Amino acid sequence: MSTLDLFGEMPGHPEQQGTTPPVQSEREQIEQLRAQLHHHAHLYYTLDAPEVPDAEYDRLFKRLQALEAAHPELASTDSPTQRVGAAVMDAFASVRHRVPMLSIRTETDTESSGAQAFDARVRRELGQDDTAPAIEYVAELKFDGLAMSLRYENGVLVQGATRGDGENGEDVTANVRTIGQIPLRLQSVAHRPIPPVLEVRGEVYMRRDDFETLNERQRAKIAAGVKGEKTFVNPRNAAAGAVRQLDSGIAAERPLSFFAYGLGDVTPVSEGGPQFKTHFEMLQAFKAWGFPVADEIQSVQGAAGLVAFHQHIAQTRDRLPFDIDGVVYKVNDLALQAQLGFVTREPRWAVAHKFPAQEELTTVVAIDVQVGRTGKLTPVAKLTPVFVGGVTVTNATLHNEDEARRKDVRVGDTVIVRRAGDVIPEVVSVLLDKRVDYAPVFTMPSHCPVCGSDAVREEGEADHRCSGGLFCSAQRKQAILHFAQRRAVEVEGLGEKLVDQMVDSGVVKTLPDVYRLGFVGLAQLDRMADKSAQNIVAALEASKSTTLPRFVFGLGIRHVGEATAKELARHFGSLDRIMDAQEQDLLQVSDVGPVVARSLRTFFDQPHNREVVAQLRACGVHWPEGEPAAQAVQPLAGQTFVLTGTLPTLSRDQAKALLEAQGAKVAGSVSKKTSYVVAGAEAGSKLDKALELGVPVLDEDGLQQLLTTVSDSAQGDTESSR
Ligand code: IVH
Repeated sequence: MSTLDLFGEMPGHPEQQGTTPPVQSEREQIEQLRAQLHHHAHLYYTLDAPEVPDAEYDRLFKRLQALEAAHPELASTDSPTQRVGAAVMDAFASVRHRVPMLSIRTETDTESSGAQAFDARVRRELGQDDTAPAIEYVAELKFDGLAMSLRYENGVLVQGATRGDGENGEDVTANVRTIGQIPLRLQSVAHRPIPPVLEVRGEVYMRRDDFETLNERQRAKIAAGVKGEKTFVNPRNAAAGAVRQLDSGIAAERPLSFFAYGLGDVTPVSEGGPQFKTHFEMLQAFKAWGFPVADEIQSVQGAAGLVAFHQHIAQTRDRLPFDIDGVVYKVNDLALQAQLGFVTREPRWAVAHKFPAQEELTTVVAIDVQVGRTGKLTPVAKLTPVFVGGVTVTNATLHNEDEARRKDVRVGDTVIVRRAGDVIPEVVSVLLDKRVDYAPVFTMPSHCPVCGSDAVREEGEADHRCSGGLFCSAQRKQAILHFAQRRAVEVEGLGEKLVDQMVDSGVVKTLPDVYRLGFVGLAQLDRMADKSAQNIVAALEASKSTTLPRFVFGLGIRHVGEATAKELARHFGSLDRIMDAQEQDLLQVSDVGPVVARSLRTFFDQPHNREVVAQLRACGVHWPEGEPAAQAVQPLAGQTFVLTGTLPTLSRDQAKALLEAQGAKVAGSVSKKTSYVVAGAEAGSKLDKALELGVPVLDEDGLQQLLTTVSDSAQGDTESSR
């Protein structure tokens, strides 16, 4: 601290204690630093567009801290230095809300009915019939956090209060001051005079990435043996816990954010308060004064506008960086809002339209281990059925042994299950305080649960694998399904149930057996009608005529996806050449690296895999073969290009194809090894990087020239070599 401490003097009355009174310039300096820091904090936290590097901010901040320490009489609660947390408290003081904090009616209907019902109600209340013009609404996000009322007097934040029971909340000012996105002082803007009193209401929340980082930090603390630490269940709980921290120093360490969406107490218009006509206009004013307002907010017309907004947000919700649990519709015109008024504690002019929850509680009935096509063993929690994310979930993946142990999921546990969008459901965490039957810790079996072969986990791998290969019926089933899928050889109607039957009854031991079953074999299977058997026979017959890439992909070789299969087919032209290619030959194929080359070699080195291929061919599976493309001279082989920006005539894919046809590799990022960067309009950081590293840069003309030159000379090469 300052020299005052060294002399054991009490700060607070420096004049009386003989310290030099601050010269005007220091007071000014403090004011100026505060203004600068407010400005930069707003750019950084709210607009996400900092103008100065962090180090510069820190420098200004330290200067201000030093000046304030030397001049305690100039301390001010709205100083940016006050964001770091104040004294630890025993309890929060109670705050009476001058304007109650109401809640809103919630619709849970899916799709459009919630919006239509709300619009119909509003029109009825306003006495409008079907011929009246559509009502204008503001459609907002329903943030999943904690409601907060922020009181500003003469532009300075004086109080932050939770909602409490709506009438009385808790004074959490010290914690609120630590939230970087909340202005400590309103920004003054032209045409928007700052009202003497203004209460802005909104939601304190935690971004998902901040939540993950926080939990990682918590896990590290727990691992280090720090007492009393725990991880948080979801961003909402973490945010609520942080806001209600009695030690604002701890609150300051929890990364919170804020969105403004409403108004509380405010100076009346007659006394110089703001005169807003619409809710939307009010939100714009909040933004101008320095509050974050969600970008997604829209003003829309009528029920149709609300429905469209609901659909759009439902589809894009998972891409938002924070959790929402629905959307909120508000009548835009404030005069109409006043006319509509309230029923009990809810406004008639607003409604929340909830989405199905993405997280629910349920219990773990068992933990099974499933075997995938490549033998990967996946622990799966079998759950008491629960409706989450719009579907009933009975299974949730635990990914692998480490994940299952990290989450410490055990049979009998109460768990949080999450299903977001199309993502497969997963167990988020266990509610440890609900654990009753201390079931043993989950361990991966040492043998495949299906065929009993050793389950091995190779060094550096997260997964255990069954070593049984096609001896394992689970892997055989998956292999057949993979071969029969639409993107591979496509056998229509050959689905999971049928394959289970074929393999479990023992009539199908290998993939070619499927082709040998015939009508009689199929019709013998349980519950198989003649008509269905005929359809499958026809589908199998049709599948025999296929293409080389589909067949290669259908073999289910590890790391060989559709794109790689296509490249292999193009490069080698025939299956025999692929099967016999050595690793160095395989590495010539674009898309094939050492791991894929190794995997192909391993696959075709197994006699039983070659046997399967031979038998499939013997059953009549065939495809057109061609000449290898590999012999063509590839003048740009070994060169790497990076494309950036928009070229005048070529699309990115076209440019890529032209380059690849000459043997070049097209990469996504620039390094010292990049041969050329091809830059078009609005090229960004990749171009900067190229210039920095001295990598040659071409425009489209330059690229065309290069391509013409190399293909001419390549032609010359082939001609002369003939
Ligand atoms: S408006 C009088 N707008 O949802 C209207 N509330 O019951 C007051 N919430 O706990 C609320 N996002 O914290 C409003 N865009 C939004 C909101 C929102 C989330 C929360 C709010 C309150 C509950 C409403």
